[in-house]
Formats: sequence, C-alpha cells, structure tokens
Amino acid sequence: MALLHGPGVREKREFYRQQRIAAAYDQQRFGSPSGAWVNQREIRQVIDLIAGARRVLDLGCGTGRLSRSLAEQGCNVIMLDASDAMLARAVPAVGAPAVLADAFALPFAAASFDAVVALRVVFHFAEVDVLIRSVAPLLRPGGRFVFDTYRWTPRAWFAVGRQSWGGKVFIHAPATIERAADAAGLQVVERRACFLFSPYLYRLLPLTLVHLLDQLEPRVPASARSRVFWALERPEE
Ligand SMILES: C[S@@+](CC[C@H](N)C(=O)[O-])C[C@H]1O[C@@H](n2cnc3c(N)ncnc32)[C@H](O)[C@@H]1O
Repeated sequence: MALLHGPGVREKREFYRQQRIAAAYDQQRFGSPSGAWVNQREIRQVIDLIAGARRVLDLGCGTGRLSRSLAEQGCNVIMLDASDAMLARAVPAVGAPAVLADAFALPFAAASFDAVVALRVVFHFAEVDVLIRSVAPLLRPGGRFVFDTYRWTPRAWFAVGRQSWGGKVFIHAPATIERAADAAGLQVVERRACFLFSPYLYRLLPLTLVHLLDQLEPRVPASARSRVFWALERPEE
C-alpha cells in the first residue's frame, strides 16, 4: 500500500515527531488523578475488546502506555509508530520490539496478528477506510482490529491549542466505520460508546466529579456519548 501524503496525515506525522511533544505527552494528558483514571479506563476498554489475543500490534503506540499494559497481560506486543521521538520513549518504558513505520504502509506479512490496536489514532485521520484496509490483511482469521473514534468533540470544529495538541481531529459516523469494515472484509463485533464528553476535558476535573460522570454515563443515550471503541473481526475461514 502506498504511503498517504494528504495534508492531514502529513500534519499529524510531523506534529508527533517533535521532541517537545513526545516529552510532554503523558504528563499533559494523564498527569492528574483524573487523567490517570482516563488512562486506565481507555486501556481497560482495549484489553476487554481484544478478547484474549496474544500477538498484538500497537499501531501508533506513542509513548507505550497501552503496550506496557498489554505486555503485563502476557501479550507479545510489537509497537509501531511514525515518530522516532515517541518510540525513543516507548522502547525503554516497555521493552517490547518496536518498528518505525507508517500506519498506511504496514511492513508485516498477512495474518501476522491476533489483534491490531490503535488507541487515540484513528480519529486523527479522515481516511479511516484506507486505514482499515491497511490493517485488515494483517489479522489472522478471527483476529480483531480495536480502535476508538469520536461521535462528537469540539476539537473537530476548532484546533484548540494547535501548537501543543496538534490540529483538528475527525468525527466518524458509525455508518462510515461499518461501510469501511465491510469493504475490507471485516465484521463489526462490538462497539462501546463511552465518555460523556472528550476525555481531554475529564482530565481537568476533580476525580470525585469524574466518578459522578462515570455513574451518570449509563443513563445517557449511547448516541450522545463522545467516544466509541470498536472491535472489527476478520471472519473465520
Ligand atoms: C494521540 S497519539 C496516541 C498514542 C498512543 N496510542 C496513546 O494512546 O497514547 C497518536 C500517535 O500516532 C502516531 N502517528 C501519527 N501519524 C502516524 C502514521 N501515519 N503512522 C503511524 N503512526 C502515526 C503519532 O506519532 C502518535 O504517537
């Protein structure tokens, strides 16, 4: 598959290649007690959805927060990222093999993985169909692609704090994901709507308020929640 060079894709690659962005990444997002809660909740979702997978590719692994938990669960993780600044942090933190490569040109043989996970990655790209097509062949039959998207977020309308947070993110309608999965020969086997609004804001709230929001969440219709975690599966042959 050819490397994508669309302006959005290039902007995100370049943004995360900056040393100062990689250095600030974890503290900026997960440094407060509420940020740590968000971190744990996101990781738990992904671990649930991979359903016991062992060979796992962490696509856009960043500083390795998810890879570390996957490795602790006994997974054989391979970390992949387009940013050497990010990988320079992930490798010592996790100790798993790492590959500097692009999500749109993945250097692996067909059926290499039980699961490919991409946390906080897919919503950076308009080209979700291209990304799903790039991942699908890497899954063994019964293997899963687990990732998250936004239903709504102010960051899709305004590039709030572009210098420290990067440009805009994208909203993907569920029908878009379903169509892209179908076109790539994958089935949607799970979708979980969570967070009442962007977790980028949760991290600024007192932890007691975050716990209240968590209790409130089941009463809010899934379609009004901000993020969706997806599991797409390659059918058994
Ligand atoms: C928001 S961070 C998420 C990092 C990690 N998954 C997490 O949840 O903390 C997005 C990651 O995707 C990586 N990335 C951006 N464009 C990419 C591309 N085209 N191919 C591979 N990785 C890319 C960035 O370098 C960055 O590490």
